[in-house]
Amino acid sequence: MESATGAAPSKLILLGEHAVVYGHPALAVPLSSPSAHAGIALQAGKAQVELVDFDIVWTPFTDGMTAEVIRPFARLLRHFGSELPELPDRGWRLEVRSTIPIGCGLGSGASTAAAALSALCRANGIGLSPEESSRLVFEIEKIHHGTPSGVDNTVICLNTPVLFHKGSPPLQVARPKVPLHIVVADTGIRHKTIEVVSGVAARRAREPQVYDPLIAAIGETAAQGADAFSRGSAPELGKLMDKNQGLLEMIGVSSPELEKLIAAARGAGALGAKLSGAGMGGCMAALAPDPESAARIREALAKAGAALAFVCMMGEEERCARS
Ligand code: MEV
Repeated sequence: MESATGAAPSKLILLGEHAVVYGHPALAVPLSSPSAHAGIALQAGKAQVELVDFDIVWTPFTDGMTAEVIRPFARLLRHFGSELPELPDRGWRLEVRSTIPIGCGLGSGASTAAAALSALCRANGIGLSPEESSRLVFEIEKIHHGTPSGVDNTVICLNTPVLFHKGSPPLQVARPKVPLHIVVADTGIRHKTIEVVSGVAARRAREPQVYDPLIAAIGETAAQGADAFSRGSAPELGKLMDKNQGLLEMIGVSSPELEKLIAAARGAGALGAKLSGAGMGGCMAALAPDPESAARIREALAKAGAALAFVCMMGEEERCARS
């Protein structure tokens, strides 16, 4: 074993959340920032896992599980010894830290797991393909989400825009030649994806004739949006985002706080705006026509009470910044 580091992006679902759980496509992009980082340091004594943001140190082969947040990392270590070579119980320390707010739709669970997996594999000379990493992170995702579609682990481990369709190999979506300017804002309200997803499932079970067409229409926005995204057609993508938001409201996953931010973004000139991720709090995304409007929309979102607001420039390269 040797010291090593690993990192993973956050993710943003541009179109198709919830419908993706029912086999329809979703369009998702990785964001280089915020992100998760992990490091393996060699040390004398028992192996340790430190979750820096939670101020938690866990001794994996000795301690029971003291905190809920440790469970995904315990599952990760179980992959070693079953699917991957066994880890020594002494001589190393894994540190994990993340700038991704938890429970806000940016994929913090999948990202921290992917960063930790990457550091552990590098430290042990194990080469995993992005697809293999994604499959293992998907297993860990089940702890957070119960029945995840797999979109989060896929876009985070492949680290490329994808049109994700459960059960099929993900289609990589070409990055636009003309950059798109997307503003992301967090309501500051935390959700539990598992609860929001089960709420939709319960409503759909009661009224499939109402929910199935809405869910299918959400999937269609994603399929059309992938093409608009690659061509860098902001007006087209913006319209699809607005349409998708209307449908998400109809399936009951929006919230007054999200709608306040969405209205503020539209009022400041966004071409389209919608919640992103599970909804009922968490993040929203707005599409700006140009960088100046993106800065104005970001300010409007901060004024409207966003806990966090940042601009992502998405072209052949991608860059996210708070100002
Ligand atoms: C969560 O990031 C997206 C949802 O569609 C759930 C899933 O795909 O597993 C709400």
